[in-house]
Amino acid sequence: MKILCFGSLNIDHVYRVEHLARSGETLASTDYRVFAGGKGANQSAALALAGAAVFHAGQVGPEGGWLVAKLSGLGVEMRFTRTVEVPTGHAIIQVEASGQNSIILFPGANRQVSSAWADQVIGHFSFGDILLLQNEINEIPHLITQGRKQGLTVCLNPAPGGPEVAEYPLEQIDLLVLNETEAAQLVGEARPQEQLARLGLRYPEAEILLTLGSQGSWYRLAGQVLHEPALSVEAVDTTGAGDTFLGYFLAALAAGLPPVERLKRATRAAALCVTRPGAMDSIPAAAEVDRLGESWPTRSPQRLVV
Ligand code: RIB
Repeated sequence: MKILCFGSLNIDHVYRVEHLARSGETLASTDYRVFAGGKGANQSAALALAGAAVFHAGQVGPEGGWLVAKLSGLGVEMRFTRTVEVPTGHAIIQVEASGQNSIILFPGANRQVSSAWADQVIGHFSFGDILLLQNEINEIPHLITQGRKQGLTVCLNPAPGGPEVAEYPLEQIDLLVLNETEAAQLVGEARPQEQLARLGLRYPEAEILLTLGSQGSWYRLAGQVLHEPALSVEAVDTTGAGDTFLGYFLAALAAGLPPVERLKRATRAAALCVTRPGAMDSIPAAAEVDRLGESWPTRSPQRLVV
């Protein structure tokens, strides 16, 4: 089974600040660094580090070659990522003392994907393969539809959210992965269990995964709901934690691990991620996740029948 992650690649400009800048405020940062990022690229990196066979499809501008080389060095197959004459996507990220962030995106080459090229790429994959999408590139509805036509299992993480997500053909999604804000935008409800119930009613065929940061994760599949608490760690930078969680989760799913193990591995990987600065650079290797599992076994997820 192959995984095709069709998604963004960004250059992340990361500023450390005492607190996130308020409206009208000018704030001096205490540190500035440039990292590799983009939700798509981060998820591909996490998949590869977790041991999955992953192909990344996406676009960079002429100055984005180092992102491609970096992903390739991590073991991501990059033959479907191309260079176009548009600036590479970038993100301006403030990280405050608590590790929380705020992000401004410049989409650049990420939002210049053509449907014809998307079809060509998807044509290299077949029944049983997985298509993983986020919401930082254009042509998402087309990719969902084409992926399903091709017999792929379609996983959508509509991050960052937006009003357009409600218009996507979400009834065709096999695995829908959302944080609390994205879920609230879709179902208009703030409580996770209620969000899960509503999403389950609306998309009865789909597996639903809710990632709630320090509140852990909820996973609804085949008539049951699992809850896995987060691990308590000293957060330095939460950027990329959701991407790490999803990459490890999907790699475990592709490897045939049971649902409980998918959640445990993803939770450990995300816990390690938030203890380090940066997005892609903070994703742990599988051996580190294994070691954390030995020294810090998570308890069994709470299981509810629905
Ligand atoms: O999920 C984290 C990512 O969001 C960052 O790497 C940034 O590029 C934005 O896309």
